[in-house]
Amino acid sequence: MQILAIETSCDETAIAVVECSGKPENPSFVVRAHVVATQIATHRPFGGVVPSLAKREHLKNLPLAYDEVIQKLNSPAGGEKYALKPDRIAVTVGPGLEPALWTGVNFANSLAEKLHVPLIGINHLEGHMFSSWLAGKTVAFPAIVLLVSGGHTALVRMDSMKSWEKLGETQDDAAGEAFDKVAKILGLPYPGGPEVEKEARAGNPDAIAFPRPMLHSGDFNFSFSGLKTAVLYHLRVNPLTPESSKPKADICASFQKAAIDVLVAKALRAADECGAQSLLVCGGVAGNAVLRAELARRAGEEGIAFHAPAMEYNTDNAVMIAVAAYLGTAHPADKALPNLNI
Ligand code: KG4
Ligand code: ZN
Repeated sequence: MQILAIETSCDETAIAVVECSGKPENPSFVVRAHVVATQIATHRPFGGVVPSLAKREHLKNLPLAYDEVIQKLNSPAGGEKYALKPDRIAVTVGPGLEPALWTGVNFANSLAEKLHVPLIGINHLEGHMFSSWLAGKTVAFPAIVLLVSGGHTALVRMDSMKSWEKLGETQDDAAGEAFDKVAKILGLPYPGGPEVEKEARAGNPDAIAFPRPMLHSGDFNFSFSGLKTAVLYHLRVNPLTPESSKPKADICASFQKAAIDVLVAKALRAADECGAQSLLVCGGVAGNAVLRAELARRAGEEGIAFHAPAMEYNTDNAVMIAVAAYLGTAHPADKALPNLNI
C-alpha cells in the first residue's frame, strides 16, 4: 500500500511517500520520498515557534515540498522511477498549532480530491509513537512510550498498536520547550536542545543541584517550568561573565541531568508498574544521546527491550505519519478537520 503523508502541526513542513506492506506484527516500510522543509531560521530570532509565521511558511513550503517529492519519485538516487499512485493520503489533524494544522489539512483535502484518494487524519503523537517501527524490529507489548518533544511530554502505555492510553503528561512546559528556554536564557540559539547538549559535554552534571520536579509525585505527570526558573535564579545570583565559559557548560550539564533524571525515573517506574516488555522513546528530545544512553542502560538492567527511532525520524516528519496511518488508529476523515483534543 502506498501512503502519501503530510505533516504541518508545528514548524516543519513535511511530505513523504511510503510503501507499506506486511502484517502489523511484521510490517515493512520503504521510504520512496521524504521531504522536511524546516522553519528553524524563521523562528530563531524569537527563541520559539510563532504560530502566525509557521502558518505563512507552511503555505509557502507545501507546494514546494510536494514538487520536491514528485522530483524525488521521478529520479530516485540510483533507482527506478516510481509512480505516485497513493492508496490513501494521511494528514496530521492534531494536536498542534491550529493555524499550522489547517494549512496541511486544506492541502491534503484538495490533493485527495484531485487524486480521488481517501483521506485519513492522524494523531501527531501517534506519529511519533510509531517512528520506532521504521527500524524494522518487532516491538513486544505492553510497551511504555516516553514521548518528549518541543510541544509534548507524555508517558503512554501501549497494549497493542490500536490501543494506547496516556498515563501522564507535563503540567506546564514540554521537555523540549524547557531545553529551548534554558538555551534562550543562556544566549544559545533555537532550537536549544542540541545546543544545550553540545555545551553540556564540557560541563559537570553534578556542579549545580537543580531541582528534580515531580520526581516523587506518585503519578506519571511532569513539570519543567520550575526547573527553567531555577536556572534563571541561579544565573541572577551567579551571572555569566564573558570569560566564564565553564559555568555555562556546568549549567547546561546540570540542567540536562536534572531533566533526564526525572524523565528516566518516571519512564522506568511506568514500565515496572505496567509489566512492560518494551520501552520506547520518541520526539525531538529523543535525539539527546545522554537520554537515549540512560534509558537504554536502565531498560537493559530491567530486562526490557529498548527501541528508539533513527535520528532523522526523531523530529517532526511525514514518514512517521505514514507509518501511523498503516499501523495505528487512524481517524476516518472524509472531511479532515484539525482536531486539537485527540
Ligand atoms: O518533535 P519535535 O520536532 O517538535 C514537536 O513536535 O514539538 O521536537 C523539537 C524539540 C525542540 O524543543 C528541540 O530543542 C528538542 O526537540 N531537541 C532536543 C534535542 N534535539 C532536539 N532536546 C534535547 N536534546 C537534543 N539533542
Ligand atoms: Zn512532534
